[in-house]
Amino acid sequence: MIMNDKANIKVGNENYEFELIIGSEDEVAIDISSLRTKTNIITIDPGFKNTGACKSAITFLDGEKGILRYRGYSIEELAEKANFLEVAYLLIFGDLPNQKKLDKFLYDIKENSIVDEDLKKILESFPKSAHPMGVLSSLTSALVSFNPSVLDIESKKEIYDAIVKLLAKLPIIVSWVYRKGKGLPLDYGDYSLGYVENITKMMFNRPNKEYIQNDTIVSTINKLLILHADHEQNCSTSTVRIVGSSHAGLFASISAGISALWGRLHGGANQAVIEMLEAIEKDGGDTKKFMAKAKDKTDPFRLMGFGHRVYKNFDPRAKIIKVAADEVLKELGISDPILEIAKGLEKEALADSYFVDRKLYPNVDFYSGIIYKALEIPNQMFTVMFALGRLPGWISQWKEMRENKEPISRPRQIYVGERHRAFLDLDLR
Ligand code: ACO
Repeated sequence: MIMNDKANIKVGNENYEFELIIGSEDEVAIDISSLRTKTNIITIDPGFKNTGACKSAITFLDGEKGILRYRGYSIEELAEKANFLEVAYLLIFGDLPNQKKLDKFLYDIKENSIVDEDLKKILESFPKSAHPMGVLSSLTSALVSFNPSVLDIESKKEIYDAIVKLLAKLPIIVSWVYRKGKGLPLDYGDYSLGYVENITKMMFNRPNKEYIQNDTIVSTINKLLILHADHEQNCSTSTVRIVGSSHAGLFASISAGISALWGRLHGGANQAVIEMLEAIEKDGGDTKKFMAKAKDKTDPFRLMGFGHRVYKNFDPRAKIIKVAADEVLKELGISDPILEIAKGLEKEALADSYFVDRKLYPNVDFYSGIIYKALEIPNQMFTVMFALGRLPGWISQWKEMRENKEPISRPRQIYVGERHRAFLDLDLR
């Protein structure tokens, strides 16, 4: 408990006092918003390792204790008891919906579950080899042009419409990206189904076969979407908030978030993990060799799916996903040697002083790819599935940023380039 709610910063002989901000879970920040005005100096913090960008009431995580909660509800309970649409509602509007509110939300989403046919032309023009994340980001951006009526960021109604349109249309686009990769005809889904049931049907439906819902697949995807739904101010979410802070609309901000998620140090790690596990298997399964590479500072290789900026104990999502991977493979009757390689790597890393000293534990991406692989989702689609789950988180964070009337994000810098110099004419250089 902090007794004195002030912080003192001494610059030279001058002492400056700053307020402390204390969060509802007793997290403490020094409010330096007046630092430059008072002192004419700034702070520098590459990667924002010590910098809070906002106050947020959406997600709480304690990296030391391995706690993750959405709007106060623990991730363990939500993953076990909730459906993804309830969680989306919770994140975006702040409370779990009652049946009436949930029905209305689903109805509004279904009423918007159509994507303009012309978007197919854009999709068709991408090469088959295009990475699905690039296609998803482009098509999400293109949605802006097809939905000009939801661009007024001052209008509560237009923001609500933009929210339900995005939640309705992104799964269709995701399924189109997946189906294009597989050479399957594009689908608009089934109005009669629930949100996650419809996603699975849109993806796995075959044109020449009656679709029979597999409850294991539905509940697994439901769980994975919930586990990925929000994670406070991570790289892609910060991107969404930063882009939105310039008063760019929701669709454009989410498209930028998708691009940020794509990178291998963030959401793209789920694809990288499977590629790493497959490479280990192909190489004969010698995990020790890859452990040594990960520890070798002259080798750029990192143990993908390990380590996290905030979790320094364990990632609670990884714990749930590890159990789910075991269950799903068992229920689907699949025996995948890379699950054993993953477990072996985890065991070795948790006993290795390099990883122990640096507090590197499996993160959300370590086991998720094994599940996607079991569901026959191609490697390149893994991060797209992550984006589908993260969508309500991005939406809620964008909405909160607007409601808090946050100023435009515009960091400063310390200039370390050339001082003023005179221009030299071309023939004198
Ligand atoms: N393998 C080997 N060494 C690692 C790993 C890893 N996966 N992760 C971190 N380290 C080492 C670093 O080399 C560094 O060592 P040093 O202190 O000797 O220089 C130390 O641990 C701290 O690592 P940083 O990179 O400074 O930690 P940071 O918080 O900046 O990065 C990150 C976190 C990006 C997640 C990092 O752990 C990583 O690259 N992991 C692999 C990629 C991954 O799984 N990303 C998904 C994260 S979850 C998500 O975004 C959805």
